[in-house]
Amino acid sequence: MKIVIENLEPLGKWVLYEYEHSYEVAGDLLLITNARIEGLPSTERRFYEVFDLNKVIILDPKAERKLEPEDLVKKDAVVIGGILGDHPPKGRTWQLLSSKFPQAEVRNLGKLQLPIDNAVLVTKLVIEGKRLEEIEIARGLKFECSFLRAKRTVLLPFGYVVYEGKPFVSMKVLKLLGFKDGCKLSWNLTDEEMSEVDSLNQARESL
Ligand SMILES: C[S@@+](CC[C@H](N)C(=O)[O-])C[C@H]1O[C@@H](n2cnc3c(N)ncnc32)[C@H](O)[C@@H]1O
Repeated sequence: MKIVIENLEPLGKWVLYEYEHSYEVAGDLLLITNARIEGLPSTERRFYEVFDLNKVIILDPKAERKLEPEDLVKKDAVVIGGILGDHPPKGRTWQLLSSKFPQAEVRNLGKLQLPIDNAVLVTKLVIEGKRLEEIEIARGLKFECSFLRAKRTVLLPFGYVVYEGKPFVSMKVLKLLGFKDGCKLSWNLTDEEMSEVDSLNQARESL
């Protein structure tokens, strides 16, 4: 069994940090396809050139059925989109993967959109026999930093596995977004904070 990330993004820092973090948690279970990346198990070949499409499951938030440990019997790979999160989700996994490969089965990992590294971790836990209901997922992440009198808050409206007592998030990604020593990290956003992200996004889109 392999957990495959089919890269579908330009290889910027954010996505690379998520791939590194995925490798840290999944080790040799992981294979990145559609990009050769030094230091990570990866190949330029597409996932459908490496695996038989009848023996893969594509993970898509739009899928009707959730992933169960039993689904993995007689399968060779679970494919995750190497696609960064959009808020609200734009259905890019459907556009770029599931709709193109109808021979493959599709499954979801619950209602929240998970970052790539978190989708890898949840898949690994399901391969180990866990059910989705047994995996705690925080709804969103936030960090607050104070510099002199200025205060900066960053809200990440995605689902994060609560793993070993804290959200599973790459420190390199957090630092890329401005996290520094002394910033306060918290998780499980309120409805108000989630709608704050929505209004920020609407404002951005209208620019
Ligand atoms: C950050 S998500 C990108 C989702 C993308 N914005 C969309 O709307 O389809 C990266 C990948 O993780 C997997 N993933 C994340 N959350 C998921 C969920 N709730 N159910 C199934 N797959 C999920 C999918 O394979 C997805 O392509």
